[in-house]
Amino acid sequence: MFSRQIGIDLGTANVIVYVRGKGIVLTEPSVVALAKEDGSNRPRIVAVGEEARLMLGTEYMLRYFINKVCGQVRIFQPQLMICVPSGVTSVERRAVKDAAIRAGAREAHLIEEPLAAAIGANIPISGPSGNLIIDIGGGTAEIAVISLGGIVVSRSVRAAGNKLDEAIANFVRKRYNLMIGERTAEDVKIQIGSALPMDPELTMEVRGRDLIAGLPRTITIGSNEISEAMDPVLQQIMGAVKAVLEETPPELASDVIDKGMVLSGGGALLRNMDKLLTQVTGVACYVAENPLYCVAKGTGLALEHLDFFRRSLVAVH
Ligand SMILES: Nc1ncnc2c1ncn2[C@@H]1O[C@H](COP(=O)(O)OP(=O)(O)OP(=O)(O)O)[C@@H](O)[C@H]1O
Ligand SMILES: [Mg+2]
Repeated sequence: MFSRQIGIDLGTANVIVYVRGKGIVLTEPSVVALAKEDGSNRPRIVAVGEEARLMLGTEYMLRYFINKVCGQVRIFQPQLMICVPSGVTSVERRAVKDAAIRAGAREAHLIEEPLAAAIGANIPISGPSGNLIIDIGGGTAEIAVISLGGIVVSRSVRAAGNKLDEAIANFVRKRYNLMIGERTAEDVKIQIGSALPMDPELTMEVRGRDLIAGLPRTITIGSNEISEAMDPVLQQIMGAVKAVLEETPPELASDVIDKGMVLSGGGALLRNMDKLLTQVTGVACYVAENPLYCVAKGTGLALEHLDFFRRSLVAVH
């Protein structure tokens, strides 16, 4: 029996866990709030939610997920591959690695999110050719050109799923004097949101609280208004993609033009996101298979083929 090999995508919105030989075994909203510690050194996990992520810290998160996958009593300590956003500082790398060891890992490796996304999207990252991957998550959109197993040019912008939800909520508040929560805004984005106007458009009833009367009210809203609401955030993502293309060395850019770019992350599921990217850049764009799982799958594959991908990993000193 071999020790467990676990790849973890600790995303802003979702934590996704990939186990060698099993594939994706777990997908949960990030975090898991810690109400109190009872002195036994064992945090009590009581809730999930975004702000809890900050309170909780990586170690407890990792411990929680390792326990869920391996059980509380372990004969073998797992080997971990954890994805980190590109450009994390050396102090942050050290902190994540130490947290993984304290959380019970025998060994922990780190990989940058765009590389993991590309591996998970079955892009041959180790070859000399240039590949462009765009991962749109909850917190950030990361754009990278990858060649010879490394990132050649990249940009990371805080314009992704959460900002799209905020933009929708703000739009509805201003245009309809209606307060809606972020979960409702996300639901609207998923149900009818489109990166480009649609004809015919989709519509949806949205319930919120009237800002003036203070009472519940329902409106009907259309995809094209949602596109309008999301436009400034989408433009930020487009700006970052254009900047990466402009900085890409000519030979690699020519590969990207030939092969097209690949879209991963939950944001890849937004209607017409690929079409908008193609329209703005003139380069073909493809949505990866199971875009939400690319990063987790990539962390798992990187661990499974550690020697092959070793030079693509983040060095921790
Ligand atoms: N069908 C859909 N259409 C549009 N957006 C979607 C869809 N499904 C999921 N999303 C969005 O995808 C985002 C989550 O994606 P993902 O799990 O890749 O993020 P993450 O990895 O947790 O975040 P990050 O990489 O920024 O840390 C959420 O904002 C969610 O609203
Ligand atoms: Mg992510």
